[in-house]
Amino acid sequence: MNSTRFPMFYICLILFPFTQLTSCVYSDFFWAKDVDVILKNELHVPANVRCKSRDNDLGDHEISIGNTYKFSFKTNFWGTTLFWCKIWYKKYPNSEKYSEANFEVYSSESHTEHCDHICTWELLDSGIYSYDPYNNRSIKEYDWNN
Ligand SMILES: *[C@@H]1O[C@H](CO)[C@@H](O)[C@H](O)[C@H]1NC(C)=O
Repeated sequence: MNSTRFPMFYICLILFPFTQLTSCVYSDFFWAKDVDVILKNELHVPANVRCKSRDNDLGDHEISIGNTYKFSFKTNFWGTTLFWCKIWYKKYPNSEKYSEANFEVYSSESHTEHCDHICTWELLDSGIYSYDPYNNRSIKEYDWNN
């Protein structure tokens, strides 16, 4: 468990009667962070995306050329929030095959510093890049399959 969150469990135990304990633990009182994930389509074709966590399936969405897909969530108490996305697209409008990738977009346990509250991913022909706004640069993280 995330060491900065663990003591908060005891603070909840002390401050809240048992009936409110769960809402204290799961509320955003102390530790829940708001996270935005942004996927930018910088490909030359539309892309399809489907993002999920253990509990949520955000469904299929199309991101047209030059546009973005964004979703937001709060991190959980246990520090185990994990979202991943599948992206697939046709390199050419009439091709049969899809290029695709299935990758982690946010993990409480292993996110980079520049993906703490806003995680921006750029979909390029050459792969999937994580945008670091502090240094205004994009870092390649994943390749497309095919
Ligand atoms: C970020 O870098 C790009 C080139 O990679 C440049 O065009 C842009 O002006 C830069 N933005 C800032 C805020 O420095």
